[in-house]
Amino acid sequence: MCYFFSTLVPSGKKIEKFMKTLITNIKQLVQVEKEPRTWVAGKDMAHLECIENAYLLVEDQKIAAFGKMETLNKEAIEKGTDFLKEVDATGRLVLPSFCDSHTHLVYAGSREIEYIDKIRGLSYEEIARRGGGILNSAERMRKASEEELFDSALARIEEIAAFGTGAVEIKSGYGLETESELKMLRVIRRLKEATPLLIKSTFLGAHAVPAEYRNDQTGYVNTIINEMIPAIAAEELADYIDVFCDKGFFTVEDTDRMLNAGMKYGMRAKIHANELDYSGGVQVGVKYNAVSVDHLEYIGPEEIECLLESETMPTVLPGAAFFLNMPYSPVRKMIEAGLPVALASDYNPGSSPSGNMKFIMSLGCINYKMLPEEVIHATTINSAYAMGVEEEAGSIAVGKQANFYITKPIPGIEYLPYAYTSNLIDTVFLKGCLLYTSPSPRD
Ligand code: NIG
Ligand code: FE
Repeated sequence: MCYFFSTLVPSGKKIEKFMKTLITNIKQLVQVEKEPRTWVAGKDMAHLECIENAYLLVEDQKIAAFGKMETLNKEAIEKGTDFLKEVDATGRLVLPSFCDSHTHLVYAGSREIEYIDKIRGLSYEEIARRGGGILNSAERMRKASEEELFDSALARIEEIAAFGTGAVEIKSGYGLETESELKMLRVIRRLKEATPLLIKSTFLGAHAVPAEYRNDQTGYVNTIINEMIPAIAAEELADYIDVFCDKGFFTVEDTDRMLNAGMKYGMRAKIHANELDYSGGVQVGVKYNAVSVDHLEYIGPEEIECLLESETMPTVLPGAAFFLNMPYSPVRKMIEAGLPVALASDYNPGSSPSGNMKFIMSLGCINYKMLPEEVIHATTINSAYAMGVEEEAGSIAVGKQANFYITKPIPGIEYLPYAYTSNLIDTVFLKGCLLYTSPSPRD
C-alpha cells in the first residue's frame, strides 16, 4: 500500500507521521557511518560497515541513533515522547535509500518502436540521425501540457520510491527550445515540492541539436548561452548544467562555452561524457569542477589520471549500456586506480527505460565485476555525492534524513544483487515517514 503519492498528494494531506519511530531486531543495519564521509574510493569500496542485531531510532525526519540491540535503552527513548511507533525487523536488513544521481524521468511518451528498430540492428546513432531518439522525445515534449508531464513523472517517482530510491536527480533536455525546457524544469520543481524524495534538477538544453538548428549547431549553443541559461537562472530552476559531450553531439569547445556560461549563473557542471568515444568530455568536466561525469564507456589512463586529481565523481550507467548493448565502462580499472565510482539508472525512454536501482546493483556485479559491497557504496554514498546530497543522504548516520528501506527476510547483503528480479524491498521510510509497505503475497 502506498500512503503518499496517489491517495494523499492530490488532497494535500500529510503522510503518516510519528513523534519517534524505533526499528528493532534488525538482522543487519547496513552502511552505517560514525563519521560521515563524502565518498568511498578504491579498495575501501569493498568494505561496508554493518551492525548485526541492531536498532535504528528516527526522530523528527532524521536518524537520531542506532546501535546494537543490547545497548538499546527503550525507557530513555520513551521518556518525553507522545507517541513511539515500533517496527520489528526480525530477519530483515535495513539499508539507506538508493540515491539515483542521473535520470531523465520527465518525458512524454515511451519509445518502444525504436526498441524494435534496435532489435533489428540499427545503432543508437543511426536512430538519432533518422530523427528518432532524443528528437522524437522532443517533438512529443513540445506538445505535452505541464499537467500531463507532472502526472506521468509523479507515477514514475512513485514507482522508484517503492523500489527503494530516496533521492533522485532529474534532467531537462527533451524541450530543446526555451519554453519547453522551462516547462520541464517547472515540472521538476513541482516534483520537489510534492514528494518526500530529495530531488535535484539539471538543465540539459545541450542534449541534442533540435531540427530547426540542424545546420547551425553553434547557433543553438548561442541560444542556450544567451537565452536559455539566463531565463532558467531567473526562475532558479536548475541546480546543475549538463551537456551531452560526445561524438555526433556537442564538441569540447561547445561544452566549454556552455559550462562556463552556466557557472556564471551558479549552475555547477554535471555532464554526459565518453559514452560513444574518447570525447574529451571527462577533461572538460574536470576543468569546470563538475560534480560528476557520467556514462564513461570510453575511459583510458589519461581520463583516470585526470579524475584522480579532481573532486568529480565518475558515474557509470549500467542500465544504458545493458539496454543498448554498449561496451562496458572499465569500472575495475577505475577502482583499482583508487577512484570512487557511482552507479545511476539513467531512467529515460530511449536508452534505459527503468529506474530500478536494485537491478542496477545486479548489473554492476554481473557486467562490471563489482562486489556487493562496492555496488552498495556506488548506489548510496557515492551517488549521493554525485548529486550533491551527501550531507543529507547516502548512509545511516546520525543527523541525516531518515531515508531507508527494510528488506524482506533475506540471508544477507549479497542476496540483494543476486536475486536480480525479486522485489525484496518490503517497507520504505522517507523523511522518517512510513511511505510504502509491499503487499503480502496473499493480498
Ligand atoms: O543518457 N546519452 C544521452 N542521453 C540519454 C539518452 C536519452 C534518450 O535516448 O532519450 C542517456 O542515455
Ligand atoms: Fe543520461
